Amino acid sequence: MMKTMNEFKFHMPVKVFFGADCLNNNASELLKYGKRALIVTGGHSAHRSGALDDVIRILNESGADHEIFSSVENNPGLDSVGRAGEMAASFGADMIVGIGGGSPLDAAKAAAVLATNPIDPIRLYENVFQNKPLPIVAIPTTAGTGSEVTQYSILTRKDVGTKMSFGNESTFPVLAFLDPNYTMSMPPDVTANTAVDAFSHAMEGYLSKRAGPMSDDLALASMRYFAMCREALLSGDPNYTDRENLLYSSLLAGTVIAQTGTTALHAMGYALTYYKGVAHGRANGLLMEEYLRFNESEAGDRIALALKTAGFDGIADLGNFMRSLFPDRIEILPEEAADFEKLALLQRSAKNTPRLPNLGDLAAIFLTGTHK
Ligand SMILES: [Fe+2]
Repeated sequence: MMKTMNEFKFHMPVKVFFGADCLNNNASELLKYGKRALIVTGGHSAHRSGALDDVIRILNESGADHEIFSSVENNPGLDSVGRAGEMAASFGADMIVGIGGGSPLDAAKAAAVLATNPIDPIRLYENVFQNKPLPIVAIPTTAGTGSEVTQYSILTRKDVGTKMSFGNESTFPVLAFLDPNYTMSMPPDVTANTAVDAFSHAMEGYLSKRAGPMSDDLALASMRYFAMCREALLSGDPNYTDRENLLYSSLLAGTVIAQTGTTALHAMGYALTYYKGVAHGRANGLLMEEYLRFNESEAGDRIALALKTAGFDGIADLGNFMRSLFPDRIEILPEEAADFEKLALLQRSAKNTPRLPNLGDLAAIFLTGTHK
């Protein structure tokens, strides 16, 4: 049998609207899904971006009711998504609108499941839900998570001591509104963290053992748009066009990981976030140079093409860029690195890594990557 392309599946059921004022221009789409919305946010960014006010005005003008759950913390835990789910159920919500960065969007997915399935939040990880989750509408105010076009919800697991994801085909949002204007008020550190998160999704999706021709093309396209914004990220002063490119880059990268998953780099980053308080994108950025070196023997050609597409002159150049963007290093002790490695290897995504790590390999990446 002739075969030049590997068989692949591509499932992306989210209706996406992208561009300035896309929510206002397509308000009727939001109203199709119900008359009682629970809005899930993390506080300031939803308001500061203007997205929350726009959603409330659209709902009010159409006579729809809403309640707001605004206490999603960074890297939300099972307790807070449990409360959001209870609030949705007692309000009789017929849809969930998530507004914010990855944390509120991921919490919105959990709340949508828990609203129709009165289970202990830990059972989200069984990934089989008796009842269909409420429709989820996602409105990102950062450019990096990609959560608006993925099925994943990443929550903090205090019982395990790291972050872990759940999600299946029923937890994709039904609708996503991506307006670059909503990302204009992001402070420079959040802009840098989230941009590197998106780049990490594109890179890991491209290197993943589950990559296919279509995810590859989208990953490389995402990297081309990232390349256009590199200078603006370093200067800390992105203009509207940069914001648009970053948001589009993030959208493309999200559609990639929805198919391919992430890899050991994300798995390692979760431990740095949980134990060292390192922002998610920065955690990936600090480890990326050593992670790529580790995989070079198995995926050298793909790494070279990806880096070239993103405007880097090899792995060392990428490392220099990350050190410029994130100059503060973090201290990790050898025994901590060994513990973090164990946690990383618990993650399903670690199995997607091109070079399967032996014991000690990831600990070495933690130590070298964060101390340069
Ligand atoms: Fe991520």
